[in-house]
Amino acid sequence: MATLPLPDYKDKASFVSSMSRITNHDKAMVAWRFDRFKALLNNKDLVAGSEKEAKAFLLTAREEFTLQRNKPRAYDHAFLDIGYGVTISGPHLVMRMTSALDVQPDDKVLEVGTGSGYQSAILAHLSNNVNSVEIIEPLHERTKAVYKKLVEAGNAVYQNVHLKSGDGYHGWEENGPYNKIIVTCAIDHIPPPLLKQLAPNGVMVIPVGPPGKQTLLKVQKSVDADGKVTINRTDVYNGRRSVSFVPFTKEGGGTWSGKGNR
Ligand SMILES: C[S@@+](CC[C@H](N)C(=O)[O-])C[C@H]1O[C@@H](n2cnc3c(N)ncnc32)[C@H](O)[C@@H]1O
Repeated sequence: MATLPLPDYKDKASFVSSMSRITNHDKAMVAWRFDRFKALLNNKDLVAGSEKEAKAFLLTAREEFTLQRNKPRAYDHAFLDIGYGVTISGPHLVMRMTSALDVQPDDKVLEVGTGSGYQSAILAHLSNNVNSVEIIEPLHERTKAVYKKLVEAGNAVYQNVHLKSGDGYHGWEENGPYNKIIVTCAIDHIPPPLLKQLAPNGVMVIPVGPPGKQTLLKVQKSVDADGKVTINRTDVYNGRRSVSFVPFTKEGGGTWSGKGNR
C-alpha cells in the first residue's frame, strides 16, 4: 500500500515536526489535526492503541476535502456543509465508523455516499481497494477532481480509491463482494443488494432509522458450512446515542424506504 510512514505523534511538537518532514501539509492545520486527534482518543471515537486508524486520521488532510470557506473549521467537532444540500460528517463520527469497520489492508471496501471524499481518503490509508458511490453527479465530479489533484501532487495512496456516480442502494456489484461496507446516508432498512454484496464474515456500518434519529448499526454477516446466512446487528454506540445523517436518496427523487432488514 502506497501509504506514508507513521509520523511521530508522542506530542504536538513532535507531530508537527515529523509531518513537515514527510508531507507538505500546512503546519497550522497539522497542529489542529493533532488537537482533534487527542479529543477523538478522549471520546473513544478512536481506540487507544489502534495504530492503523490513528495513522489514517493523522495523515489525512481534512482541509483538502472541505469547502474553501470551511477550511478554518476543518477540525471542528462538527459536520460541515459541502454544497448540494449535503455535508461532510464530523471527524468523531468518521473515526467511530472507521474504527467499527476494523479495515485490513487486503479488505475490499465499499462506501455509499462519497460526498467530499474525506471518509474514502481515511479508508485509503487502511485498504488497497476502496470503492465509493455518490448519487449527486456534480459532487462526484468535483470529488474526482480533488482526488486527481491530490494524486498528481504525489499522494499515491489515493490511487486506492475508485469512484462511481450512481445510486449506491444497488451497491457496486462488478467490484464486489466487499469485506467492509460503510454507508454514510440514512435509511430505514438495510438495502438487500448491499447485504448480498457483503462477503461472508463481512462487516457493514450503516445508520438505520427515521430522519434525524438513526441507530448506527454494525452488521455482521456469517455463512455456515451449509451455506446458511446469519446477520447479526449491534449498535456501535451501545444505545448511548443516535446519529443524524443526510437521507439515502433515489435517482429521480425521493428517498429509499422499505420494510425488510430494519
Ligand atoms: C453525510 S454525506 C457525505 C459523507 C461523506 N462520506 C464524506 O466523507 O464527505 C452523505 C452522502 O451520501 C450521498 N447519498 C445519498 N443517497 C445516496 C445514494 N442513493 N447513493 C449514493 N450516495 C448517496 C449524498 O449525496 C451525500 O453526498
